[in-house]
Amino acid sequence: MRLDNEAFIVTGGASGIGLGITRRLISEGGRVVAVDIDEDAGDRLTSELGDKIHFLRGDVSDAQVATAAVSEALRVFGRLNGLVNNAHASRQKPLLELEKADWQLSFSTGFEATLNFMKAAHDELATTAGSVVNFGSGAAMSGQSNQAAYAAAKEAIRGLSRVAANEWSPEGIRVNVVSPLAMTPGVEAWSQAQPDQYAQTVANVPLARFGDPEVDVAPVVAFLLSSDARYMTGQTLMADGGTQKLY
Ligand SMILES: NC(=O)c1ccc[n+]([C@@H]2O[C@H](COP(=O)([O-])OP(=O)(O)OC[C@H]3O[C@@H](n4cnc5c(N)ncnc54)[C@H](O)[C@@H]3O)[C@@H](O)[C@H]2O)c1
Repeated sequence: MRLDNEAFIVTGGASGIGLGITRRLISEGGRVVAVDIDEDAGDRLTSELGDKIHFLRGDVSDAQVATAAVSEALRVFGRLNGLVNNAHASRQKPLLELEKADWQLSFSTGFEATLNFMKAAHDELATTAGSVVNFGSGAAMSGQSNQAAYAAAKEAIRGLSRVAANEWSPEGIRVNVVSPLAMTPGVEAWSQAQPDQYAQTVANVPLARFGDPEVDVAPVVAFLLSSDARYMTGQTLMADGGTQKLY
C-alpha cells in the first residue's frame, strides 16, 4: 500500500475531519499519532484501531504537546513521515465584538499550534523527506461574516505554509494546504448557531452537499502525504465540492 510503514501525526485526529484522516492513513498502511483534547474520542479511536494508532491527549496550543507528539511517533513507530495540522478552535462573532480571548483561542490553536508542530517535526521530516499538510478554509478566503479571528488565523497558516514550502524544499520537505468542506461535529454546532449562513453555504456548493470527512477530504490529504504528490509543494487544494474558486 502507498503509505506502508509510514508514521504520521494528525492533530485533532480523534473526531471530525481528523478522524477521517486517521482512518484513511491507516487504511493505506500508515500508523498515526492522533493528538486531541477529547479523551473519550481518543479512547474510542484506540478501541477501533488498536496498535496502529497511538493516542496522545493534549491541547495543541501547548508547545510541549508538539514536541511530545514527535517523541511519541519516534518511540512507538520509529519514524515520522508526515504531519497534519488539522485541529483549530474558534468562536464566531461580529469582528467589533471579538475580545482578546477570542483572538487568542483562534491564533493559539490554529496558527501557533501549526507553527509549533512544524518546528517540532522539522528535523525528523528532513530525515524522511516528509510532508506537511496544513488546513485552510473557504470561509477565510471569502471573508465570511463573523469569522474574523478564524479567517485571520487561517490565512496566516497559508502564508506560513508557502514560506515553509520554499525554505524547506532543499531538505525535501513538502508543505501544502487543504481547504475542506465536510459535515463534522464542529460544523454541526456552527449550523445550529448560524442556520442562515449554513443554508447559504450549502446552496453555494456546486456538488450540492457537504462532504464526508473520510471519503471526500481524507483521500486528498493522503495524496498530498504520499509520493504521488512528490512534485507538489506550496499549494492549496480545495476539497470543498467546488465552492471556492481561486482565480
Ligand atoms: N468541516 C468543515 O467544513 C471545514 C471547513 C473549512 C475548514 N475546516 C478546517 O478543517 C479542520 C477540521 O475541522 P472539523 O470540522 O473536523 O473540526 P471539529 O471541530 O469537528 O473537530 C476538531 C477536532 O480537534 C480537536 N480539538 C479542538 N481543539 C483542540 C485543541 N486545543 N487541542 C487538541 N485538539 C483539539 C477536537 O476535539 C476535535 O476532535 C479545522 O482546521 C477546520 O478549521 C473545516
